[in-house]
Amino acid sequence: MCGIVAVTGYRKALSLLLDGLEKLEYRGYDSAGIAIVNSENKELVCNKSEGKLINLINKVGQKEILGTVGIGHTRWATHGKPEVKNAHPHLDSSGKVAVVQNGIIENFLELRNKLEEEGIIFKSDTDTEVIPHLINKELNNLKKLNLEDSGSTLLIAVRNVLSDLEGAYALAVLWSDAPDSLVIARRQAPLIIGLGEGEFICASDTPAIVDFTQTILPMEDEEIALLTPLGIELYDSNNERQYRNPISLKCSEQVVDKKNFRHYMHKEIYEQPELTQKWIKNYLIKNSESGLIKVNYSFDTNFLENIERIQILACGTSRHASMVGSYLLEQFAGIPTDVFYASEFRYSPPPILPNTLTIGVTQSGETADTLAALSMEISRREDLKDELCKPNLIAITNRPDSSIGRQISNVIDISAGIEIGVAATKTFFGQLLSFYGLAITFAQIKRSKTDDEINQLISNLENLPPLLKELVDQHNEISEKLAHDFSDIKDVIFLGRGINYPIALEGALKLKEISYIHAAGYPAGEMKHGPIALLEKKVPVISIATPGKVFEKVISNAQEAKARDSYLIGIAPKCDGTEIFDYLMPLPLSDEWLSPLLAVIPLQLLSYHIAAHRGLDVDQPRNLAKSVTVE
Ligand code: F6R
Repeated sequence: MCGIVAVTGYRKALSLLLDGLEKLEYRGYDSAGIAIVNSENKELVCNKSEGKLINLINKVGQKEILGTVGIGHTRWATHGKPEVKNAHPHLDSSGKVAVVQNGIIENFLELRNKLEEEGIIFKSDTDTEVIPHLINKELNNLKKLNLEDSGSTLLIAVRNVLSDLEGAYALAVLWSDAPDSLVIARRQAPLIIGLGEGEFICASDTPAIVDFTQTILPMEDEEIALLTPLGIELYDSNNERQYRNPISLKCSEQVVDKKNFRHYMHKEIYEQPELTQKWIKNYLIKNSESGLIKVNYSFDTNFLENIERIQILACGTSRHASMVGSYLLEQFAGIPTDVFYASEFRYSPPPILPNTLTIGVTQSGETADTLAALSMEISRREDLKDELCKPNLIAITNRPDSSIGRQISNVIDISAGIEIGVAATKTFFGQLLSFYGLAITFAQIKRSKTDDEINQLISNLENLPPLLKELVDQHNEISEKLAHDFSDIKDVIFLGRGINYPIALEGALKLKEISYIHAAGYPAGEMKHGPIALLEKKVPVISIATPGKVFEKVISNAQEAKARDSYLIGIAPKCDGTEIFDYLMPLPLSDEWLSPLLAVIPLQLLSYHIAAHRGLDVDQPRNLAKSVTVE
């Protein structure tokens, strides 16, 4: 949440900052701002606008702001409303220190009260504003020491202030008395340095860097750095200078291109068949001698043999994918599996059990709740010093270069390519595929299914791409038409059971996120225990009914809704039983194991077309951000 960009070098900072912020706008779009050290008079020039970046671009885009050192920010509001006064950068009272921050300073109130007692007047409601004031105070103290180098002075001042801050942050600081210097620091929030020649860019995420350089240095937790056009000084929390080799960006995966689609989300839904094809090629590998197909991981999987139970930590859409995963791991591979809201797990974890695999699932790899829950789990298990209870870990992510990739070495890369639409679609699909892979691996290890059953699932997955392609085309047309019927709808109920219950939850979440229509997903059998009271003519019920274990039950539950006058939409194949639906969004007849991968497509497209039909900002829905880096 919130995007930070900072540059120092020889090129004009303004356009570099605006370009970088544009690539980070998915992280928040409540306000945007920049501060640049004017290279002529060495004063800070700060500009901010409420709302999207375009407002800032309209304000400063035509201005001639001279200066090669600057910081920029695109905000997702936590403390303080999305108003100009709360937009970053925040300045100290002298107007010489500017700070952009991503994260939350948990003890800001205490710090603010103290500063106010000392006579400092605050201009915003944010937690961030304490930082420039504290830095200015430190700088005034350090001035008495007459340090020669102003960049190093700023570094010391920031470091001293950081020791007083509680919470998580990534920040960048400018001081007009050190006009070539930037100080950046991170604690539990991402920050990456891009290395150019005689110039550096620092950003919350790689898309802001990729057009600038392919060489990056991701900062580690608790590190602080001084950047000038001459180089980087990087220090750890013990003030030890750090020397690390930079790494290369895989730029093809960072390219942001909408092609001919009106919205990124639409394009990303269309990319799912190709993603599946790529996943099959990368992950389902036939052994040339035995002829057996195994799932191909980039890490040694021997440790999986001893696993007796699995716990999965995730949030939002990633949690829904994990619920399908849990169903597959229990019902197909026979391993007891629990899924937890990462935000709940951290504060109420279950008792530690031996031989447990913990899987962290996050498309961004930066979700603070998930990272914090994983850290807690790793440290409580390490503290036990019991070999059977040691942490066994896997991360499923679209960003192996992210914080989770640094936290956990066993990474399943979903390789979905960068997802710009804030509402997750293709990364959800990639997470599902990863869970099919894990279920196959565990079924092979545990012999929970016969070879024939396992091979059947593999072959069904291999046959999926053309089916998906047809489904996307077909449902794009159907959903576009159906979207008109949702013009006045205020509530929608989604029903599913068994393997498709999480898909009902995901359908409801997608609709809420981008169309702002209230929607709720239920296991179809639960309706009669309460939610059925909501049903009436104006509350459509969308029911996923795929032949298998619970098909007849789902149809009966749909009957109950129909008896209450609800308009019934079926996500179901055309077969006996599905004539009950007022409107059928047809699925091909398929094996039940595969059904979530099919059923989710019409739901994604329907949400998309309803929101697009309402003229809403599909890719950047209100109040949301793609990377949720605060707890
Ligand atoms: C929904 C959505 C969110 C995320 C959630 C977790 O469309 O995008 O619900 O799924 O914030 O994000 P990640 O997967 O990055 O951990």
